Amino acid sequence: MEDPFRTIEWKGDHIRLLDQTLLPGREEYVAIRNVDQMCDAIQRLVVRGAPAIGVAAAMGIALGALNASETNREAFNSEFDEVCSRIAATRPTAVNLFWAVNRMRKLSQARADIDLTQLKQLLIREAVAMEKEDRALCERIGAMGKDLIEDGDTVLTHCNAGGLATAGYGTALGVIRAAFEAGKRISVVSDETRPLNQGARITSWELMKLGIPVTLIPDNTAGALMQRGRIQKVIVGADRIAADGDAANKIGTYSVAVLAKYHGIPFYVAAPLSTIDMSIPSGDGIPIEERDPKEVTHISGVRIAPDGVDALNIAFDVTPHKLIAGIVTEWGVASDPFEETFAKYFLRKSEETAS
Ligand code: MRU
Repeated sequence: MEDPFRTIEWKGDHIRLLDQTLLPGREEYVAIRNVDQMCDAIQRLVVRGAPAIGVAAAMGIALGALNASETNREAFNSEFDEVCSRIAATRPTAVNLFWAVNRMRKLSQARADIDLTQLKQLLIREAVAMEKEDRALCERIGAMGKDLIEDGDTVLTHCNAGGLATAGYGTALGVIRAAFEAGKRISVVSDETRPLNQGARITSWELMKLGIPVTLIPDNTAGALMQRGRIQKVIVGADRIAADGDAANKIGTYSVAVLAKYHGIPFYVAAPLSTIDMSIPSGDGIPIEERDPKEVTHISGVRIAPDGVDALNIAFDVTPHKLIAGIVTEWGVASDPFEETFAKYFLRKSEETAS
């Protein structure tokens, strides 16, 4: 089945984003015409989800290169460098952002042999290729993970790791979608995901568009459903996975993983290799974004807490690898010891790239 929406698209002189802050009430696309607008879109979660942030970063950099005012290579290089640094400073946790920035930086550095017009076109082609690759990777993740889900399962997910968090198809929702498309009768329980309600606003919207049965619950209902035997599997996405398999994802994921362990329910993470950060040995080293407390004290601009109350808005938490039954990547399903399997996957990937 075709995706019922397009998360991000290069349009020649601008980037088109589906504005995720307006969902589900309004399905509106915004045109991003410069780097400032892309930085703002990433920070405000107009575009969000680790792989989608990576693609947005690459396209934002390509746009910055296209619009660069400098005409000699040396001056262009420092302007380009500044663009990359500004994009890299938008959000700290999703490693796909830095992976994408590095890929664009390396490409520019490697091509001192071509003129600026050619380089700009090359950078655009690279960003567009990353969008296509991401969609294909998600389909591969779906194919690798679909057998983890059995006919009749109800699968709980947290936040949104669907087509809207990627260039299309999704990671955790990609696995669910692949199982559904294989004819399995499954249903999904979507945590609402306070404070920004990605589960309520985005995951349930996306699953309804795909015709996959979904029930929305407040975050604090997950334990009660597990206790009643109503959840058979949990699958979530990730923003950054350390070498040992510790996985950072939307705040509340860790609580779900602890609950799943207590109830003997397998807890899976689905993510492409670009989400795995082998330079960080364990989850302790993953930088965690802290956002404006106003996102906690207000919902859609309406105050729900007393004026002046202290509020804490930690955007991600880290699930220790001991709680994770498997990490579904485009190269297979890794299990503990994760580091060894990740190393094998990275090797296979580099062999594929070299051939
Ligand atoms: O703050 P967000 O909405 O960008 O957080 C997104 C998540 O936590 C997703 O689960 C994660 O990025 C995986 S997306 C395939």
